[in-house]
Amino acid sequence: TSSTSLPWDLDGKRVVISAGGTRESLDPVRYLGNRSSGRQGYALARIAAHRGADVTLVAAHTADLVTPAGVRLIKVGTAEELRTVVLAESDGADAVVMAAAVADFRPVNQAEHKIKKTDRDPEPVVLARNPDILAELVESRSAGKLAASLIVGFAAETGDATSSVLDHGRAKLARKGCDMLVVNAVGDGMAFEVEDNSGWLLGDDGTEERIDLGAKSLLASTLWDAVGRRLSDQ
Ligand code: CTP
Ligand code: CA
Repeated sequence: TSSTSLPWDLDGKRVVISAGGTRESLDPVRYLGNRSSGRQGYALARIAAHRGADVTLVAAHTADLVTPAGVRLIKVGTAEELRTVVLAESDGADAVVMAAAVADFRPVNQAEHKIKKTDRDPEPVVLARNPDILAELVESRSAGKLAASLIVGFAAETGDATSSVLDHGRAKLARKGCDMLVVNAVGDGMAFEVEDNSGWLLGDDGTEERIDLGAKSLLASTLWDAVGRRLSDQ
């Protein structure tokens, strides 16, 4: 093979990728959302398909993106819908990559009709916790209810006074219990609604790989390289 062609190392592998930002309804016209464009998840899907994988892409809200060739796309809206589809699709998968920005909270009440403005002050929006899908994937696998060889999380972190982006990433990998975590450095126009990403790829086997600032497709290739290595070691 020529050095410029992509490896065909994911041939016969089944991968499930979540992408985009969930939207949690307040009423029929309003929602709580986030700034995820879905670009990283779509890049992961495109590269995996190019490398021979059977790809299911579960997409919440995204920018206007082209569905990569050969990829099975399932569209969802809320975190609860994403959860249902991801859990169903992940059983028997070789890799599940949670690149979606899942809303941590949803409004407790979804008004059936559009909320109208009155002379009074508005009611506060009361929020409830959403299920943590990544944590649930890990728990289901531990309980023997789900077969998934590799479970990969994504985290967008900013450093703060006490911890660096890398420290937050290490802590999140341990907390989530997944096999790998991609840590994106965010803030100051980094990662959201832009073409480039940088950060770290952390493995529960102690591996830590720096991902230099580059295209989201490059980060995707780096992740699939690592996934391919881990799958062939298993
Ligand atoms: N995730 C998920 N379900 C949620 C929230 C997050 O599956 N309800 C997944 C994301 O898709 C991502 C990973 O968990 O792969 C980390 O998301 P992140 O928001 O960074 O983690 P949280 O545990 O929600 O922590 P934080 O308080 O930093 O938001
Ligand atoms: Ca979160």
